[in-house]
Amino acid sequence: MAKENLDKIIAELSKAEGEIKPQERGAVNATFGERAKQAKKQRSKVAPHVGRPGAEPKKDQRAAAKKLEKVATPFALSLEFEPVFAENERKNIQGNIIPGFNKDYQYFLFYRIKTVKKAKVWLRWIAPLISSMEDVLAFNRLYRILRYRLGSKDVPIKATWVNIAFSNAAVAKLVSKEAALSFGDQSYRQGLAARSEYLGDPTNPRSSGNKNKWVVGGPDNEADILVIVAGDAEKAMLDMVDQIKTEADRGGLTLLFEQAGETLPGRLRGHEHFGFKDGISQPGVRGRASDAADDFITPRYIDPTDPRSDLFAKPGQLLVWPGQFIVGMQRQSPEDLFTAAPEATNFPNWARLGSYLVCRRLRQDVKAFWEFAIDTAASIGLPARKFASMLVGRWPSGAPISRTPGADIPDLGADDLANNHFLFDDATRPSNLIPVPGYPGDTYPQAAADLLGAVCPHFAHVRKVNPRDSATDLGKIADSLTRMIMRRGIPFGPPLLGVGLLRPPLWKKERGLMFLCYQGSIEDQFEFLTRRWSNSTVQPNVGGHDPVIGQEGSQGNRDRFIVVPTSPKPTTVKIKDEWVIPTGGGYFFAPPIESIAEVLGA
Ligand code: HEM
Repeated sequence: MAKENLDKIIAELSKAEGEIKPQERGAVNATFGERAKQAKKQRSKVAPHVGRPGAEPKKDQRAAAKKLEKVATPFALSLEFEPVFAENERKNIQGNIIPGFNKDYQYFLFYRIKTVKKAKVWLRWIAPLISSMEDVLAFNRLYRILRYRLGSKDVPIKATWVNIAFSNAAVAKLVSKEAALSFGDQSYRQGLAARSEYLGDPTNPRSSGNKNKWVVGGPDNEADILVIVAGDAEKAMLDMVDQIKTEADRGGLTLLFEQAGETLPGRLRGHEHFGFKDGISQPGVRGRASDAADDFITPRYIDPTDPRSDLFAKPGQLLVWPGQFIVGMQRQSPEDLFTAAPEATNFPNWARLGSYLVCRRLRQDVKAFWEFAIDTAASIGLPARKFASMLVGRWPSGAPISRTPGADIPDLGADDLANNHFLFDDATRPSNLIPVPGYPGDTYPQAAADLLGAVCPHFAHVRKVNPRDSATDLGKIADSLTRMIMRRGIPFGPPLLGVGLLRPPLWKKERGLMFLCYQGSIEDQFEFLTRRWSNSTVQPNVGGHDPVIGQEGSQGNRDRFIVVPTSPKPTTVKIKDEWVIPTGGGYFFAPPIESIAEVLGA
């Protein structure tokens, strides 16, 4: 492909979109919300519970629920049903799991334990530095208040956070082999290197994605400990990194690899390297941080008069029970969207309130991605930018193609209360929101029903990894909720897009995504999404591989294909090149904070 073409696309990506007139609010149809209403009716015949299934509501919760029966207060159902995270839980859950650090600067330190005794001393040193869910929630609360008072996003408070996670081998070294074996998650016990081929990674030893070439996490350089440092200010974050490294040097640890991650600059802020806005769609976590009626872990925006308020935190953000991300808490029922399933018990006692952490260092070949998009688009008669957006399922701004198939609408992409509001099988209609100061409402075009993937193809990355209301190979929609992951990734390396002049030395620099996600089971969540859906040409629905992260499951074969919904008949497009290449990582467990010093460091 000629370089001019690439320049053209970069220029195109950099310029603002033409305006699209917002449609009037869409027609009301029988939708997800109505199905939800019916399910709620049936469910209300079952005795409600707070906390563990079958358990009696706690006294204070009962009193609060009673009070709510009298005054028609918002969120009555949620108050009645959802767990209150106890203080001990909030102080023990690491803050990057929930609610997430979400900082512009992040740093990752991968350590190998050299001397167990010294490593334990270091663990007792670092334990008080670990930021909890309580810390991050408190910061977020203060940030929201100041932002509201100052009327600006430029809020003068900054934080530096630290979190830590351990491989299964580290648990064996620091606690015991039995303790390591008592983790039920097989993927975690085996580690990422052992699961690499199973995930579809390159098996050819010469391939740059082969695990033997990984910068960390390959068979010879697996890390025992991953430390994550995150901050609003780069300098403060780097000071913290230095302190941790100095102490670790004394502490019997070998630094195997370090990686800085950073939000991309300028117009690419919040975008990944291919140029698409990232970090938009995350599951909402059911539950409150205190007995206060509106102190939700995930802020709620849907008015309680709208039945969807029991299903979604904000439009499109489905509510999921916390055990999907925190082991030992109530999990999501795969049968029913609202209902909790019992807590998992397949882990040692001291690990309760921890979370499995997947880290994949994924190199992105931006040039290869856009060359493929431009060339293929030309051959099937689609604009390159539109075709590239079909690969992702969103336009570069983050606007879902389901809501605006013809052109990007940057304002929609930037609108957090609208940019995730779409389904695939059902048409969507606006949610009734609680009053949000200054918010004019979601007046953008709504998504039409797209059962066959004519608008957002079945292969599109976001449709593969979150089929939303589509039935899947496993049947029920509720089952898809049990597959959700809490993504905490950040780009690394210099940007290529939007930098003006494209010079070959810049193409050659390494860049990509430090992909991180937390979950209650690596096997059933991250690995499921990867193997069962992204790497499959027929699941969750027929249409080819996920062109962003999918790999051909049969070992050694790197060929992929997608079935593009062209007219008059679909076109099958082969994909030979690879643009997301694994270069390192590991499977870890982020334990509850008190266990760091008291169990792992004891
Ligand atoms: C370099 C690799 C990757 C790139 C460039 C990428 C890019 C994106 C983009 C642009 C979005 C849409 C924005 C958003 O909803 O946040 C997205 C969503 C998502 N990605 Fe990826 N991604 C990558 C790797 C992965 C991996 C390894 C997984 C693991 C299975 C994954 C899972 C997801 C999920 C679950 C969503 C949200 C889908 C939804 O709820 O609509 N991604 N990704």
